[in-house]
Amino acid sequence: MNNDVIKGRIRMPELFEKLTSADAAAELVKDGMTVGMSGFTLAGGAKSVPLAIAKRAQSNPLKITLLTGASPSNEVNSALTNAGVLSRYSPFQTDRTMRAAINQGEIMYFDSHLSETGELLRRGQIAPVDIAIIEATAITESGAIVPTTSVGNNDIFAIQAKKVIIELNLAQSAALEGVHDIYFASSFPHATPIGILAPKDRAGSTSIQIPPEKIAAIVVTDEPDTPSQNLAPDADTASIAGHLIEFFKSEIKHGRLTESLRPLQSGIGTIANAVMSGLATGPFRNLTMYSEVLQDSTFELIDIGMMDFASATSITLTPQKSKEVFENFERYRNKVMLRPQRISNHAEVLQRLGIITINTALEADIYGHVNSTHVMGTHMMNGIGGSGDFTRNAHTSVFVTKSIAKGGVISSIVPMVSHVDHTEHDVDILVTEIGLADLRGLSPRERARTIINNCVGGEYRAMLTEYVDEANQRGGQTPHVLEKALSWHQRLRETGSMLDEARIARAAA
Ligand code: COA
Repeated sequence: MNNDVIKGRIRMPELFEKLTSADAAAELVKDGMTVGMSGFTLAGGAKSVPLAIAKRAQSNPLKITLLTGASPSNEVNSALTNAGVLSRYSPFQTDRTMRAAINQGEIMYFDSHLSETGELLRRGQIAPVDIAIIEATAITESGAIVPTTSVGNNDIFAIQAKKVIIELNLAQSAALEGVHDIYFASSFPHATPIGILAPKDRAGSTSIQIPPEKIAAIVVTDEPDTPSQNLAPDADTASIAGHLIEFFKSEIKHGRLTESLRPLQSGIGTIANAVMSGLATGPFRNLTMYSEVLQDSTFELIDIGMMDFASATSITLTPQKSKEVFENFERYRNKVMLRPQRISNHAEVLQRLGIITINTALEADIYGHVNSTHVMGTHMMNGIGGSGDFTRNAHTSVFVTKSIAKGGVISSIVPMVSHVDHTEHDVDILVTEIGLADLRGLSPRERARTIINNCVGGEYRAMLTEYVDEANQRGGQTPHVLEKALSWHQRLRETGSMLDEARIARAAA
């Protein structure tokens, strides 16, 4: 361990005595505590102390409530799940092991809008954080914490906790210092406006100031973030991007947008990232982002000179992109800013900036209701994340999805979604590889025809047309054949396909 490097990063000498091992720090976490842990979609998460907690639990079982930004890493979530440490968890995860435990009812998962967790804590509406475990790039002369590749809920966790454990990660670029904008929004009844009028505006300071005496332990680590598992763009995501580019071009032609569009938000995952990458082929310039997660596509657009500035709460990259970006971070540090998730996702700021949001649907229905979270209406995938924060407050809200999943046995467009995260009122544009449905100003009957004709192909288009014809005969503002509305999901469960037997034969012919 290089002592000079550590001294350069802990700039308050009184804190050297707090340096300790992960195992010793883990002992500070007691049974029944609420733990606030850094980490947002795999970026900036605590790495060694949570694994030490999991190890300790093997001989000395304990249960905690774990709150994060949006997950430290899949490795940490898996280890804590396998060790039986988690009784309650919030607000977002992407790990298969944890997902299985959630769906077994073993972990009480509280899925909430990512802008909300901090507010719930601050208002005392959920149990307060007892101890915080925060990854840091550095600790300043005054004992303030400089976060790493995400901010998430670090500010509220550190401020509310009685004790703070810091993981000082030497693998995180020292050049990250300065990119954070820590603004602790004022609260009711004296809430004042947040001074962000453009994505590049700074509202707060570059570190999280807490009383240094709360720092109970500092553990030095040297491990990069777990990389994103996003897959590369494919022909379908290229088609989705192509439809969206044509839509934007039309909006520009009609004077509703300029070539800079509006500040962009792009959701996590393969599809939204691939669609953002696809914007590189469009006629855009001076793009900005006011988003939650910066993925590979943001840096691709910065590299080709199309993106001027990007604000978010985390940077989550694939292995190759991570190497390129963090080995040359000086090149990017004036073009990105990381804020607490309450600010990156704050309704007031989003409304003021007028964001174009691009999020991914697991499934959507013929009226434009969107399910982002629940497979077959019951089983949690990841969580709503920030998709609701952004969608509800968008200038233009876009949802993207491939029209089919699992090789075609699932239609992503169904008569009725099996779970609703985003209602028809909040969904302006729906895009699949087949085409784009512009739903603005349309009645439900018009929305149904527009979605079916533009976003669905093959046998599923014929099936949905039959459904909507029958539904319209029954009447209503939003017509349905209630006894058939979820029959596609039921058929999938019973036969393994949403297609009926005759259609499977026809599709195969
Ligand atoms: N029914 C069942 N499974 C479906 C499905 C459907 N209708 N549609 C997709 N899937 C499956 C895919 O087959 C894939 O399964 P696999 O992991 O076994 O391969 C999985 O869901 C993920 O789908 P993928 O096509 O790879 O999309 P993605 O990586 O872009 O993720 C979401 C899509 C919806 C899961 C993801 O965007 C998400 O968690 N969204 C909610 C949070 C959010 O939107 N945040 C935005 C603010 S950052």
